This record gives sequence, structure tokens and C-alpha cells, in this order.
Amino acid sequence: MKNTVLTFKEAKKNKDKLTMLTAYDYTTAKLFDESGINSILVGDSLGMVMLGYEDTLSVTMEDMIHHTRAVSRGVKNAMVVSDMPFLSYNTGIRDAVINAGRLMAQGRADCVKLEGGKEVCDVIRAITDAKIPVCAHIGLTPQAINALGGFKVQGKDLDSARAIIEDALAVQEAGAFAVVLECVPAPLASKISEMLDIPTIGIGAGPDCDGQVLVYQDMLGLYKDFTPKFVKRFADVGQQMDQGVRDYIQAVKDGSFPEPAHSFKMDEEIVKEL
Ligand code: KIV
Repeated sequence: MKNTVLTFKEAKKNKDKLTMLTAYDYTTAKLFDESGINSILVGDSLGMVMLGYEDTLSVTMEDMIHHTRAVSRGVKNAMVVSDMPFLSYNTGIRDAVINAGRLMAQGRADCVKLEGGKEVCDVIRAITDAKIPVCAHIGLTPQAINALGGFKVQGKDLDSARAIIEDALAVQEAGAFAVVLECVPAPLASKISEMLDIPTIGIGAGPDCDGQVLVYQDMLGLYKDFTPKFVKRFADVGQQMDQGVRDYIQAVKDGSFPEPAHSFKMDEEIVKEL
């Protein structure tokens, strides 16, 4: 069954944990959808894990539309969440609504995600007024990496923890249907999850969030440039790919691939005429 904002609402009510993974292309999205994931995030993390940038700041609306479209074509049941990239919603409400609309109309996303707390509540309100569901994202917000001074756990002292609680309440009040909590201490995420009516989706935010999200290259062992502490590796697909490619190289070089089973036959009489 198709996952929607109502699925998220029900899951919160029934204390069913929500599952979300990133994906950025048709093949991967189809695989994850068939595995039964609730939601696929076309994250702007694609800047790093797909395009090789050092952060998410260079990702464009065109990049996001391109990858969101590919994911949407592969998905039947998961809810497709598309990230609004850096500066696509901070230059005015009109720009924000138009860009959110493009991710829905051209990317065929089911909803959008954007980073920030109180300071983006006007934008969240305007986008939800346009009937586009918004997932908020607070705590460590990678698009603000230069303002935050690096990829660091947020909300460790009393003032910053209180500020994150205020952000969580504010984005809920502005109409967000869910909120990603990134890199905040587990007890703070637990408290926020208890306080909110909307589901919290944690990444580096402990076990008490209403759901979890991970970047798939991290949890499947495909991206090894940097592995955050909160990542658990559920499989080493990178190692399997490496072995597969080595076996392929060897087989091509020693002539054991392709075998007759991988080749096309032709009428002997025609071959003689050639
Ligand atoms: O872009 C992304 O992948 C994200 C997750 C880290 C939540 O925003």
C-alpha cells in the first residue's frame, strides 16, 4: 500500500517505527521499495555520495529534479521525499513555493524536506498552504555547515538543547508532517519525540525517535570516504562489488567470459558466406 502523510500519522499514533533510506536512482529505489521501506529520501547528500562534492552546498534544483524523477519512476509504495537544496527556499517565500512545486510537478515527489527551525516557519507554512507536505529537518543541518563550524553534534548544552526543542515545536506548529532530527543527543531526541504529535525521524539521534533514516551508501558499505559514528553497516556491498569487478576483469582477460551461453548464434551457412 502507498505510504502517505496518513501512514506517518498512523505510525506515530500506533507507535510503529517508520523506516526511511536515501536513494537517488531508479534501480536502487525500486529495490528498496520492494524491500518494504516506508519512505525514500532523495537527499541532497547526493552531492557527496553521488556527485563527489565535499558538502551539499553545490547541489542544484536541476540535480534534485533529475534524481527525484528517477527515484519516483522506481517506486510504487514508498513515500518519496525530495530535499530542497541550498538557497532554494531561503530567498523568499515565492521562490520557496515555486521550487517545492517543481520537485512535486517535475520530480514527482510526494513531499519535500527542508532544513531549519523557527527561521523557516514562514516558508513551511506557505509550502503546506500550497498543499505540498513538508518534512522539517533540525539539529545538525548540513546546508548550514559553514555557520555551524562543521559536522558536529548539536544541542549538548542547556541553551542549545532548549533551542532545538523550540525549533521542533515551531516546525510542527507551522504545519510540518514530520521532522528529521540529525546528530542530537539521544535523551534530547527522546524528549522531543515525546513532546511532538508529528513523527520524528532520527539520524544520529538515538533509538527513541519515531523512525530512522540513513544514507544507503553508509549502511551498505558503499561510501568509505567518511563514516559517521551513528552509522551501522548492515551489509558490505562495496566489498561484494569490488570482488565482482575483480572477477570480471580476470574472466575477460583469461577469456573465460563470455561463455557460449552469453553469446548469440548464427546460421552456419550464413557464416560460410561471409
Ligand atoms: O540529504 C540527506 O541525505 C539527509 C539525511 C542525512 C537526513 O538530509
